[in-house]
Amino acid sequence: MSETATRGGTKATNDIKDIRLAEEGRRRTEWAERSMPVLRQIRERFTRERPLAGKRLAACLHVTTETANLAVTLQAGGADVALCGSNPLSTQDDVAAHLVKDHGIKVFAIKGEDHATYYEHIRAALAHRADITMDDGADLVGALHMIALNRLDDLAPPVRKWVETLSAAERKAIVSGVSGSTEETTTGVIRLKAMAKDGVLQFPVIAVNDSQTKHLFDNRYGTGQSTLDGIIRATNLLIAGSTVVVAGYGWCGRGFAMRARGAGANVLVTEIDPMKALEAQMDGYRVVPMEEAAKVGDLFVTLTGNTEVIRVEHMKAMKDGAVVANSGHFNVEIDLEGLKKVAKGPVRVREFVEEFQLDGRKLFVLGEGRLINLAAAEGHPASVMDMSFANQALAAEYVVENAKKLTKDVHRIPVELDAEIARLKLQAMGVSIDTLTPAQRKYLASWDMGT
Ligand SMILES: NC(=O)c1ccc[n+]([C@@H]2O[C@H](COP(=O)([O-])OP(=O)(O)OC[C@H]3O[C@@H](n4cnc5c(N)ncnc54)[C@H](O)[C@@H]3O)[C@@H](O)[C@H]2O)c1
Repeated sequence: MSETATRGGTKATNDIKDIRLAEEGRRRTEWAERSMPVLRQIRERFTRERPLAGKRLAACLHVTTETANLAVTLQAGGADVALCGSNPLSTQDDVAAHLVKDHGIKVFAIKGEDHATYYEHIRAALAHRADITMDDGADLVGALHMIALNRLDDLAPPVRKWVETLSAAERKAIVSGVSGSTEETTTGVIRLKAMAKDGVLQFPVIAVNDSQTKHLFDNRYGTGQSTLDGIIRATNLLIAGSTVVVAGYGWCGRGFAMRARGAGANVLVTEIDPMKALEAQMDGYRVVPMEEAAKVGDLFVTLTGNTEVIRVEHMKAMKDGAVVANSGHFNVEIDLEGLKKVAKGPVRVREFVEEFQLDGRKLFVLGEGRLINLAAAEGHPASVMDMSFANQALAAEYVVENAKKLTKDVHRIPVELDAEIARLKLQAMGVSIDTLTPAQRKYLASWDMGT
């Protein structure tokens, strides 16, 4: 077993679009690094202390400039890193080339890769025989568990074919060799918690998404800004004065609703959770069922982590020219398969914009229903990924130090580490805060002081 890709019949320790893009990737990665002071500090410490020395690490993440900075940090900590993309459309090919050429990192990712190539790249990451895995959406860990549970029919064909060539002992070793894993996003954490509940989780997982320095900032401000950025880059539509429908008022949804309102849109929110719906209503948005929103929206964006949120019956009710996009993790939030059955199309009218004709009206779907901020833009700004990836780097170190003590469950990184990331970020931003006086500390710890 070795970390090879076999696309086009050639064997290699990487599979990227074009190594000649490396210089552009290097410059852009350095640009992102300027906005990642917390990760930079961790990298400096990792270089001195080498906490990941001798560890093989397989990461399935969006291959962006920010991820490049994480990969180089993990390598500085001593890890032997293999990286594959966590979405067929999110890879930045110049970044992939830079990591291969300038850092010798094994990268398997090409923007626009088809389904088979996507899974061939997951296979290559699995073949790295990792001690630690890192996921954004649990595709890598999902495949490892299908191997562990011998559910080979649930594996994508490229992975399945490879697993069938392995002996039972080799299959077992691939899974038992993993001492722990980390997960970046809400959807991945939901899947992992379901695995833990069913008692099938094979190793401890650190839910990076559950850190406050992750979801409060990355999901809200990162997704908020970059989703709007992706939509504007894809369409060049004016947001001001338009009616924007936001499906889901979780961390991502509220971030996007806030930015859409800031750009002058009339924002409607759809929800299934009464508490979130109440918050949206009191934040000043109109909350309506999708059935109603469908009739009036100009732009629809799903950010729920759920499936079939916009269905054919909704699309049939939409106005001529309605635009539909998704920024949730998987491309299942809009029922595109259903749409293809009843509509004519798709016809590509711009990069990332596809036209469907439905009952004499035109409907435009962005980025094939995949997360639009990564498909049509560059994903989250580096400054917010600084905190998410500081969490990832510290989570990898935490796994190395604590794997034997951790149960096969989904864990958070300790709250002190989370608070330390916030402290370092504030420091880098030049923001000072107050400290408790002794009297305040005593007051907060007491229960016997009243009026
Ligand atoms: N685009 C990105 O870069 C990016 C970044 C972070 C997270 N994500 C993904 O975005 C999704 C949302 O993440 P989050 O952190 O906001 O999760 P969250 O759990 O905080 O919010 C999801 C919300 O959607 C609501 N919801 C569920 N089903 C719904 C339905 N049918 N109609 C309307 N609302 C519904 C839930 O009640 C919840 O309030 C996840 O898939 C996550 O992995 C994407």
